[in-house]
Amino acid sequence: MKIAKIMMLSMVVLGLVFTFAFAAGDAAKGKALFNDKKFAGGSKACNDCHAGGKGVEKAGDKKEFKIMGKTQKSLEEAVNACIEGGNKGKAIDAKSAQMQDMVAYIKSLKAAEKPAEKAPAKKATGGY
Ligand code: HEC
Repeated sequence: MKIAKIMMLSMVVLGLVFTFAFAAGDAAKGKALFNDKKFAGGSKACNDCHAGGKGVEKAGDKKEFKIMGKTQKSLEEAVNACIEGGNKGKAIDAKSAQMQDMVAYIKSLKAAEKPAEKAPAKKATGGY
């Protein structure tokens, strides 16, 4: 009886963990894709052109992009434009888990950049 209960509970917990991970996108997985030369069937990694996230730090806030002479209306479209034009791969589904992970990673860059920008002010007030 006890074992059955424990199994039930862990299945519920696992289910929740997966739901959250897929719904929100996983920045760590996105980073791995960002560094992967074979991502989306391409031959270059995003990181080859955007080393350490260079040039995409503010993309999480943008509504419109201009990449390689074309306009993109969402971050997903921008990522796909770079997959095709930069990585030389094939565009992926905007709603796929990979895209959500990639978007989560790009958005996490913005979060990581902010404290650095405001570092002097924070130090003066004692920081965290
Ligand atoms: C061959 C080089 C190259 C590769 C590879 C590349 N990009 Fe880009 N990316 C660019 C260029 C050029 C721009 C245009 C804006 C600029 O001048 O920085 C850009 C712009 C972007 C932007 C918009 C930035 C903004 O704030 O307007 C995003 C987002 C982006 N890339 C994501 C990616 C992702 C994700 C990958 C991997 C799938 C990738 N890029 C691979 C060259 C590249």
